[in-house]
Amino acid sequence: MDLKGKNVIITGASRGIGKSIAIKLAESGCNVLIAARNQEALDKTVVEIKSKAAAGVKIIGLSTDVSNLEDLKRLSETAFSEFGGVDILINNAGVSSQYPFDKQPLEDIENLAHTNFLGYVRLIRLVIPHMIEKKSGSIINMVSGSTLVDPVPKTFVTYSSLKVGLRAFLKGLFWEMRDYGIKITSILPGVVDTELTGKLNNITEEQKERLMTPDAVVDMVMFALSVPQNACPLELAVINQQTPWIKPVIDYDQKQAR
Ligand SMILES: NC(=O)c1ccc[n+]([C@@H]2O[C@H](COP(=O)([O-])OP(=O)(O)OC[C@H]3O[C@@H](n4cnc5c(N)ncnc54)[C@H](OP(=O)(O)O)[C@@H]3O)[C@@H](O)[C@H]2O)c1
Repeated sequence: MDLKGKNVIITGASRGIGKSIAIKLAESGCNVLIAARNQEALDKTVVEIKSKAAAGVKIIGLSTDVSNLEDLKRLSETAFSEFGGVDILINNAGVSSQYPFDKQPLEDIENLAHTNFLGYVRLIRLVIPHMIEKKSGSIINMVSGSTLVDPVPKTFVTYSSLKVGLRAFLKGLFWEMRDYGIKITSILPGVVDTELTGKLNNITEEQKERLMTPDAVVDMVMFALSVPQNACPLELAVINQQTPWIKPVIDYDQKQAR
């Protein structure tokens, strides 16, 4: 796909994986609408992206809570009014938490479901009629390498099983959408060095060195956008070559969790 002039929405792009993807796509000539809750952080990121973007591209930051339907409607409407449409949707905004299930607050379960599952599904539902009309579009979704672990990791049961459900939804959606020329991709990253994993409190310096940088995930996104028009990169996993943990169980300081 020639990315020049393509219109992109990226959620969760004020930092971490989403921000790295936004920079790469802006460098490649895309108009980029980035979303996250904290407007101040978004504004800073917009300035940084603009300093690296190809000439003439539009970069917009819109404060959005993806767990809120009205915010998602405003986000998709902004892409239509400012760019004239959406060619690529990168669903990436996510939160993580770790609890033994019997200790997990009900509000935390709801927040995970509304952000990491419904946030993705609803935004796809809002942009997909437009993609169907155009008979083209790419929807790339940050799922998780933890969905490759069966049963899902202890104390990550809610987070990981929602990601498993998301992965199943996306695979099914592809079969509905492929005749319209719409590509649906799940990216399954291993453990990446971002603020999300920065909350883990048992990582030694040696283990930290084994974390992937967001660049490994950016490469997957660029690959997904580069495959021939008649092929869909349905699922792409990029996993740590040297895993920091011998078991998929990670101690976690819940006090720091959002
Ligand atoms: N890091 C990893 O090891 C890893 C591994 C597998 C999968 N993933 C997935 O990759 C995605 C990105 O993770 P990351 O590591 O880059 O996390 P991160 O560094 O914590 O960044 C998360 C981004 O999402 C935004 N966000 C969080 N909740 C939001 C909400 N309700 N509405 C809108 N934006 C929201 C944050 O900004 P605000 O706080 O300002 O809203 C931030 O921009 C997540 O879906 C995560 O599950 C990460």
